[in-house]
Amino acid sequence: MKLVILGGGGFRVPLVHNALDDHITELVLHDVDAGRLDAIRAVLRGGPPVTATTDLDEALRGADFVFSAIRVGGLAGRAIDEEVAHEHGVLGQETVGAGGIAYGLRTAPVADRLARRIAELAPRAWVVNFTNPAGLITEVMARHLGERVIGICDSPLGLCRRVAKALRLDDPTFDYAGLNHLGWLQGVHLGAENLLPTLLADDEALTSFEEGRLFGTEWLRALGVIPNEYLHYYYSTREALGDNRGAFLLAQQQRFYDGQVDWETTRLEREATYMAEERERDSLEGGGYEHVAMSLMRAIADNEKATLILNVPNNGTLSTLDDDAVVEVPCEVDATGARPLPVSPLPDHAAGLVTSVKAVDRLVMEGTRPAALKAFALHPLVDSVATAKRLLDTYARRHPELAYLR
Ligand code: G6P
Ligand code: MN
Repeated sequence: MKLVILGGGGFRVPLVHNALDDHITELVLHDVDAGRLDAIRAVLRGGPPVTATTDLDEALRGADFVFSAIRVGGLAGRAIDEEVAHEHGVLGQETVGAGGIAYGLRTAPVADRLARRIAELAPRAWVVNFTNPAGLITEVMARHLGERVIGICDSPLGLCRRVAKALRLDDPTFDYAGLNHLGWLQGVHLGAENLLPTLLADDEALTSFEEGRLFGTEWLRALGVIPNEYLHYYYSTREALGDNRGAFLLAQQQRFYDGQVDWETTRLEREATYMAEERERDSLEGGGYEHVAMSLMRAIADNEKATLILNVPNNGTLSTLDDDAVVEVPCEVDATGARPLPVSPLPDHAAGLVTSVKAVDRLVMEGTRPAALKAFALHPLVDSVATAKRLLDTYARRHPELAYLR
């Protein structure tokens, strides 16, 4: 099978390459930046024959799988997203709040063009979307690719693995639902038994994993569910203001792309930043993005039923959203694709947040200035229309890709 990676010059591509198995007999890396492609190509060892190209059409022809992992505007764009938000006193995270809106506005038109091209040149291909903001971008691509595009994220899998470990369970089923980076774990089931209340009552187990420490025992008991780590930006917005991770990663990775530091050293440095923050990253233990993508690919290619938490059209799963809204829920996957499994209804506050953020995503997808203004102004983490207007103007001036909003 032929696999194409869009964003093939990205720093994490070697991790994906390492995770490939013998299903893949041909790997094509595509990127708009030839220099980055060369730098990544040079660190890949072993595996299937690899070609690298900046010609999209050539890359896509005959593809069986396409992994879309692009970053429009690069890490420099992410740094601007953060900086501008901070200047205006609001949250500037990569995918959440004003920063996430700016990133979505840059990325949606590009994802739309890519999806059209894939639908034309590789209509049989399964498309796995890694590109953030992943839920929104999957929904953009689904307009052309339908159920052939499936969005992935490592954070729900990471949460579930950590919870299973805290409960010392091998293979429970997880009642998880929401949007990408906006989900909640509402149950951990072993047969008819739900073990989440047991976990919530146990201080030691609860503080043995990242989300337990991040949210704290009292808040988790009050909530009665375990939020995805990204809910930190909603529940602790004040404390989360001012993070400059984009600028930091840009400086760190630039040294690799400039040939000053090797890839492995840079990867270890990056992982050390997670450890320093006590965040467990599953790339350390084999559960990162690349492994979710490979599990998905194998389930499809071998028609082996698997249950994975994925970003797919709602189709009735969450009652407050329409059928086309892409949601992040457990899915049954086989050769025919991914279908959402039933989940518990979300708690009221969570359903409210999901509905608000989906409305913002849809405004971002519209791609006009009035819709973009509404997106910033109506996001739950932006508290003023005047600020929203200044954010829009500043982002449109600072990001060349947002010239269409000036
Ligand atoms: C997790 C999220 C990704 C996000 C990444 C950021 O893996 O699921 O969606 O892009 O973290 O990590 P970074 O090291 O770039 O801050
Ligand atoms: Mn993610």
